[in-house]
Amino acid sequence: MNQELYFTLSNKVSIPSIALGTWLSENGPVATNAVTDALNVGYRHIDTAMMYGNEESVGTAVKQSSIPRNEIFITTKLSNIVRGYKETIEAINKSLKLLQTDYIDLILIHWPNPIMFRDNWKEANAESWRAFEDMYKEGKLRAIGVSNFEPHHIEALLETATIAPMVNQIRISPGDEPSEIIEYCKEKNILVEAYSPLGKGKLMNDKVLTDLAEKYGKTVGQLILRWHLQKGYLPLPKSVTPSRIKENYEVFDFVIDQNDMDLISKVESPFDGPIIPDEITF
Ligand SMILES: NC(=O)c1ccc[n+]([C@@H]2O[C@H](COP(=O)([O-])OP(=O)(O)OC[C@H]3O[C@@H](n4cnc5c(N)ncnc54)[C@H](OP(=O)(O)O)[C@@H]3O)[C@@H](O)[C@H]2O)c1
Repeated sequence: MNQELYFTLSNKVSIPSIALGTWLSENGPVATNAVTDALNVGYRHIDTAMMYGNEESVGTAVKQSSIPRNEIFITTKLSNIVRGYKETIEAINKSLKLLQTDYIDLILIHWPNPIMFRDNWKEANAESWRAFEDMYKEGKLRAIGVSNFEPHHIEALLETATIAPMVNQIRISPGDEPSEIIEYCKEKNILVEAYSPLGKGKLMNDKVLTDLAEKYGKTVGQLILRWHLQKGYLPLPKSVTPSRIKENYEVFDFVIDQNDMDLISKVESPFDGPIIPDEITF
């Protein structure tokens, strides 16, 4: 097995090191074709969410492919409008149906503090986590984790959890690395996944990046994704464009040297400010 193609989670499950992101990939032919294209060029990991409304298309593409189900890793996320033990089990069962599968490889609590549960987010997360744990023990979930969690959200979860989260999916791109969360996750052996890894496409004309891409004979997208892998982050580049889907996976045949890694880390952030999960309004 090419070691670079996988990370290993704390429960020893192998997780393919790049996922196709699908936020805003419209349910129907757009999302199904994107996933099909990705599987055809080598991706084995698809990132979706209940809130994206496209789990059905992801499931259809996986089912239609000739790749065995156990070679494909599917991640979904618990919607912000769902919390509680029974409600969470029902929502996961619905995802299983839409995804047309008997098990989900990884499920994440999408956000720690949704507006609907602002008054009792700790208890709400604890109850949903208990449902995750039971379905994990039943084999319906191969791994369980969180997204957009800061250390204080994880600490709160750990007060009642019997199984620690294996993943935290957060926003990371060159120029935007929330180091406190990243260091905390490393210490706890929680794999960090990078969403919006390409800065939502806004970094493509950065002069430092275009110069370095030329030096390595790669595109800016490939340079950035390689940077993520070398930093130990699992990137989730989203695209519905066949040529970009292919391009974004061709990142296993070069290495960025340390000086250049540092230059990439220091580019200007593509975002206006940090993510503040306790203040989101959805
Ligand atoms: N957990 C969370 O709260 C959360 C939040 C946001 C995102 N996510 C996940 O992370 C994934 C990625 O994040 P994202 O969609 O925000 O941003 P992203 O992957 O950084 O950027 C996607 C944008 O870049 C464009 N693009 C893709 N590859 C490119 C390339 N090689 N060259 C130039 N442009 C390129 C895409 O356009 P086209 O599609 O038109 O090609 C799209 O507009 C999401 O799809 C989702 O799965 C999770």
